[in-house]
Amino acid sequence: MDVQELLRFADGLVFTKTGKHLDDLQEAVVRGTWQGKRYSKISKEVHCTERHVRNIASKLWKIMSEILEENVSKSTFHSVIERYQISHYSNFLNSNFLEQGDINFCTETSHPPKTPQNSQPRQTSTPENTQPEIHQDLRDAPDITSFYGRTSELATLQQWIVHDRTRLVAILGISGIGKTNLALHILPQIQHQFEYVIWRSLGTSPTLHNTLKSLIKFLSNLPETELPTSTDELLSLLMEKLRSHRCLVILDDVQTILSSRQIAGNYRHPYENYSSLFKLIGETCHNSCLILNSWEPPREIVALTREKARVRSLQLQGLGVAAGGIFQEKGLLEPEKWESLINTYRGNPLWLKIVAALIQELFGGRVGEFLNYNMLFLGEELKAILQQQCERLSELEKQVMCCIGNAIEPVFISQIIENVQLSPDDLFNVMKSLGNRAFIEKQEQDNQVLFNLSPVVRQYVKNEYSREGR
Ligand SMILES: Nc1ncnc2c1ncn2[C@@H]1O[C@H](COP(=O)(O)OP(=O)(O)OP(=O)(O)O)[C@@H](O)[C@H]1O
Ligand SMILES: [Mg+2]
Repeated sequence: MDVQELLRFADGLVFTKTGKHLDDLQEAVVRGTWQGKRYSKISKEVHCTERHVRNIASKLWKIMSEILEENVSKSTFHSVIERYQISHYSNFLNSNFLEQGDINFCTETSHPPKTPQNSQPRQTSTPENTQPEIHQDLRDAPDITSFYGRTSELATLQQWIVHDRTRLVAILGISGIGKTNLALHILPQIQHQFEYVIWRSLGTSPTLHNTLKSLIKFLSNLPETELPTSTDELLSLLMEKLRSHRCLVILDDVQTILSSRQIAGNYRHPYENYSSLFKLIGETCHNSCLILNSWEPPREIVALTREKARVRSLQLQGLGVAAGGIFQEKGLLEPEKWESLINTYRGNPLWLKIVAALIQELFGGRVGEFLNYNMLFLGEELKAILQQQCERLSELEKQVMCCIGNAIEPVFISQIIENVQLSPDDLFNVMKSLGNRAFIEKQEQDNQVLFNLSPVVRQYVKNEYSREGR
């Protein structure tokens, strides 16, 4: 049994008895004991006292002893698990539920998907003794729509959130690429792991204070009059809730609190204090998970993703051939011609929906007739979407975008430096920022990195920036 299997197994035991999953400290005790470490060593690794670790361990052994009906302690843990593994573990893995007496050990993958609800706060009752109640507040979540592809993204998110216990997941990508839709569709696969599920959009730019109040009101059921008045106290209270309950918080449209006309990832005033929320969630021990959807990663997320194992970023790419589902739904004809259209629009489902609607309206769905014009259609709707995003670029970013957009072929960094007259330092920052905003495409050729714009972005940059006289 490897450590991950062991942790899943121990988690199943504890969940069965207490209705709660292993928290970080309990996991550290299980992992450390399995690896033969002393309590003193484990306590140093988790930065708390040895006494506290002993206390947690003793409660864990008690829970396990009661379920396995034999004495589990630090010294017997290894042998009990080994023995248990030989006699029961294959059954445990091969079945959805392993029954021992009247207890069900519930494996991670055993729950059938449920349909996400877009509703007022509600409570979902779940079968007795298998799961605690799930409290959901999805009133801010948009309606669920059709969903094609994304199999590997769903699997990745499930792995990160359920198995790796990731505390903060950023789903990143250009507008329309499907961040919100993906977050909506991962919910049925993971919600049974949580006691509380809450979706909030930052689309109206709420202050941190108001966001915290809204989260805590739901998580603690406290009336507004009883909530602390300072933002710091609210933050502490939220962290306490995230430690004592396993909560899933989804924050959508996070780019609205980030600034425009600067390098990506800085906060607009007065939203700088959201940085403390993201740092606390990414850096401290708790049992919950924050999914954050944004056009670009807030500054901390880049650093946390690099440094913390439990903070991850998923840069969303286009749908690929699965986007054919959108065309089928829109009644487009000649499926053999869809692939080139999908490539041109980089599998962005929103862009594809816009062009599909045009082809349906003007050509009765005949894709070939549209392709005969050999042009790239943006239209007012798509231009407005791109404008919203391009407005966020700094002047230096616009210069670099023009330089890449005007080149006939993909370009090397050295070619960009020659053309834009920036110091390498400035240029590297700009390139990182454009990468974070998913505005540039990168490819490797002969061990060298080349940069390009997608056809849609290139066309927009050429039309709009030349009009501005760049
Ligand atoms: N996998 C998919 N299959 C089919 N349609 C999709 C898929 N993903 C997204 N869409 C559709 O594409 C459109 C844009 O999706 P969505 O709103 O999730 O994008 P987004 O990345 O959240 O955009 P924004 O950053 O502007 O909020 C929606 O109409 C959505 O229904
Ligand atoms: Mg969205």
